[in-house]
Amino acid sequence: MQVLVIGTGNMGAGFVKQLTAAGHQVTVTARDAGKAQALAQQHGAKAVALANSANNVDAIVVATPYEQAAAALNSAGDVAGKVVIDITNPLTPDYMGLTVGHNTSAAEEIARATGAEVVKAFNTIFAQVLAEGSDMGSGQKVTVFIASDSDRARQIARALAESMGFAVMDAGGLKNARYLEPVAGLNIYFGYGAGLGTSIAPAWIRKN
Ligand SMILES: NC(=O)c1ccc[n+]([C@@H]2O[C@H](COP(=O)([O-])OP(=O)(O)OC[C@H]3O[C@@H](n4cnc5c(N)ncnc54)[C@H](OP(=O)(O)O)[C@@H]3O)[C@@H](O)[C@H]2O)c1
Repeated sequence: MQVLVIGTGNMGAGFVKQLTAAGHQVTVTARDAGKAQALAQQHGAKAVALANSANNVDAIVVATPYEQAAAALNSAGDVAGKVVIDITNPLTPDYMGLTVGHNTSAAEEIARATGAEVVKAFNTIFAQVLAEGSDMGSGQKVTVFIASDSDRARQIARALAESMGFAVMDAGGLKNARYLEPVAGLNIYFGYGAGLGTSIAPAWIRKN
């Protein structure tokens, strides 16, 4: 697939690494063209300018802070009707709380502000887990939870996650991002607050 990654930070770098390794054609864009160029070169991706970068791609991974996501997407071209994978968590500055929730979510707000077909995914995956690979050497696949109102967006997110070796659990409509974003908050508490570190990931267990 043709995938655009917006952002070259911890998560953007992990996506460029793992998506190219899985055989996708990856373009990466950033406010700083030099950072995009360096990351692209490292993994055999292509760095592009932000303007019009959303044209002719199958999916866009928005790997910016939540507060910048809609603006970044709208600067990337006309993203209405495009598949956007929203990995953001709307964190308070101290990372110990969420700035939206209960009656909306970051994912729903991004969908409203852009008109994109948004799928919430990967927000419970620490950057370190993404960089280390889909089982972190544990022998057990890490689960990516996906929530969307768009079947196309859901299918694309599933295909991308599975191509990178993750297990996928369908978490229903986009409204359920209201649940997935607090799960990421709990994950951050475990990783940092409780001192378990960032090589951890949540999973749901079901009796056979
Ligand atoms: N880190 C994790 O473990 C983790 C896990 C799950 C989800 N997430 C979510 O993933 C997102 C990215 O997290 P991160 O840790 O990768 O953050 P990060 O390392 O701070 O990187 C953020 C990236 O966004 C770019 N950016 C900011 N505003 C932009 C704009 N208007 N247009 C284009 N690019 C812009 C930054 O560019 P500059 O270099 O120019 O500032 C930077 O490359 C966040 O929403 C976070 O909540 C993170």
